Amino acid sequence: MKQGTTIYLYELAWILPSIAIPIGMLVALVVTAFGVGVHLPSDAGRVEPTKVAETPPFDKPGVFMVGPNRYEARMIAGIWSFTPNEIRVPAGSTVTFVATSRDIVHGLHIHRANVNVMLLPGQIARVTTRFDRPGEYPFVCHEYCGIAHHTMWGKVVVEPRQ
Ligand code: CUA
Repeated sequence: MKQGTTIYLYELAWILPSIAIPIGMLVALVVTAFGVGVHLPSDAGRVEPTKVAETPPFDKPGVFMVGPNRYEARMIAGIWSFTPNEIRVPAGSTVTFVATSRDIVHGLHIHRANVNVMLLPGQIARVTTRFDRPGEYPFVCHEYCGIAHHTMWGKVVVEPRQ
């Protein structure tokens, strides 16, 4: 092989991956956004963090039926617990989590469900998912929030339909 051809192939070996990798990332982005439903949670409004407990809908945290098979779970995160820390819904329910933090940055990640949001003080997070299979879906705070971060957890209990 001539000297010139070797350099050309060597350059090509770098150029092709540098084109292929961004294209691959773009494809992954499109697939996860539209195929798997991974998306940024909506910024569903603002709330004064020091007045969360007095501000609707967080003045009444809990699970509320908002339609046939539809529920809204209003949650407050604070060091180091969720209010409420247990959410009960029947199987086949679509649940919208409306959550915020009353102090510092927390997170809400529900195992085996498409819920993974940051809970920022002052910002309301809103995310909707469906629970078809009965069982327990533990949730955790996934943003390090201090000494007892690891104790900040709860569960969604999906009850079988009668
Ligand atoms: Cu709250 Cu970690």
